[in-house]
Amino acid sequence: MIDESRVKGGALSWGGVAAEVALAEVRGLRAGDAPTHGGRLFAYVYDPAVPGLDDLAAAAHRESAHVNGLDPTAFPSLLAMENALVGAAGRVLGGGPGTAAPDVVGSVTSGGTESLILAVKTARDAHPEITAPRIVVPASGHAAFAKAAHYLRVALDVVQVSPDTLRPDPAAMAAAIRPETVLVACSAPSYAHGVVDPVAEIAAAAADAGVRCHVDACFGGWTLPYLRRLGAPVPPFDFAVPGVTSISVDLHKYAYAPKGVSVLLHRDAALRAPQYFAYADWPGYTMINSVIASTRSGGPIAAAYATLRHLGDDGYLRLTAVTRDAVAGLADAVRAVDGLRLMAEPESTVVCFTASEGGPDLFVLVDELTARGWHTQPQMSYAGLPASVHLTVTAAVAPRVAEFGPDLADAVAAARAAGPVQLPAELAALVGALTPEALTPELVVGLAAGLGLGDGTGDGDGSGAGPLPRRMALVNTLLDAATPALRERLLVEFVGLLQRPAWGSDG
Ligand SMILES: Cc1ncc(COP(=O)(O)O)c(C=O)c1O
Repeated sequence: MIDESRVKGGALSWGGVAAEVALAEVRGLRAGDAPTHGGRLFAYVYDPAVPGLDDLAAAAHRESAHVNGLDPTAFPSLLAMENALVGAAGRVLGGGPGTAAPDVVGSVTSGGTESLILAVKTARDAHPEITAPRIVVPASGHAAFAKAAHYLRVALDVVQVSPDTLRPDPAAMAAAIRPETVLVACSAPSYAHGVVDPVAEIAAAAADAGVRCHVDACFGGWTLPYLRRLGAPVPPFDFAVPGVTSISVDLHKYAYAPKGVSVLLHRDAALRAPQYFAYADWPGYTMINSVIASTRSGGPIAAAYATLRHLGDDGYLRLTAVTRDAVAGLADAVRAVDGLRLMAEPESTVVCFTASEGGPDLFVLVDELTARGWHTQPQMSYAGLPASVHLTVTAAVAPRVAEFGPDLADAVAAARAAGPVQLPAELAALVGALTPEALTPELVVGLAAGLGLGDGTGDGDGSGAGPLPRRMALVNTLLDAATPALRERLLVEFVGLLQRPAWGSDG
């Protein structure tokens, strides 16, 4: 028998239990999660719905879970698999023998954020003479660039995107380059809206200024080349573009590998050189790391290797075709509903929509979709861009597309009937007046309670399955009304309330 109370809180007792009990506890905890499979979760997960693939990846992971990437000479299997993954990514992204970029090299990292941090670190460390380095990033660039800038003490110059195209103007990107700029970044495509930046123009401007240019293809780098082969008008964005010095692509996204694997590519080894960290000035082993972590499990890398080997080029082409059709079907469903409009015509694997004039409250709509088993991702309004709903579409969505249209229409009707969320006057006044610095622990606890946010041990307002209330519209409306700085601070505090040790018992 599983002790439900322990499973729910996730607290470990110190006495050991049988293996099947431990596993049952994991399964019990997992039962409250969003569904990772089945094509109804439009963020966080990438599901190709290929029978047997999960088992293959799990078996490969098990083979290499205890292998350590710390020293590539001790575990040549890992070195070989990493080199194979880098080679595959290089081929997909226009590098390798017989191309314009034959000398591409790279590293396997733990994810997109690590790849971007390393791209910024490498660019920064290539110029030790620049004491106050800066990077130029479009506003639509992934938040991980801001994280990299923050961690590495590099200044972030953000170029706004056009509200019509959702892309930065290359001239504005060029104008933002200063003598201290070490890197210019762009996305192929952006996560929020799924549009491909004008990479060729931006890379040319960077090259003219003698600055590196990183293309963040973490999200779509594994689908855009296949979409192009299927006939889509994908603009140039890879190593075929002169001036592109590095590209990142996440294998745990559209290469459908389990989490924990991304690849950072450089056009040549000289560009990669400042990425390495080496330290011999201590009594232990000389540490040579190409990535941020030192000890690294071989599990995710082996799982990615097996996934790529199994699916192969033809598999990815087929899965991309399936995904492309699903995207088209979902976009049609959005077009068919009065009161919604697409933020952009889909050009990758994202469908992003907003409310048109007189349309439903988007945050209420998101809740109505959740109630119908569709888990979408609300995006807040930002710098003249309206709030929107993001759908990351993967191959698993395809069999669901026909069900989505009627449910979307139904959810919109329900959201219209419910009307927009009204922030209680005192909350609206508070958010309007509050600065991040003025936020006290008491205010945070009061706000969390008022919004029905739980403490991580219970059910939020009692209606949801986890620490969040079942309906998030009030929370999202409040966050949307807050400035980005206040939103960041509020969420840090809320998440901090959730992340507390579960002490367990001695029993
Ligand atoms: C374009 C882009 N870059 C970077 C990242 C960060 O990747 P990760 O979550 O693997 O760190 C993402 C994640 O969605 C992304 O879409």
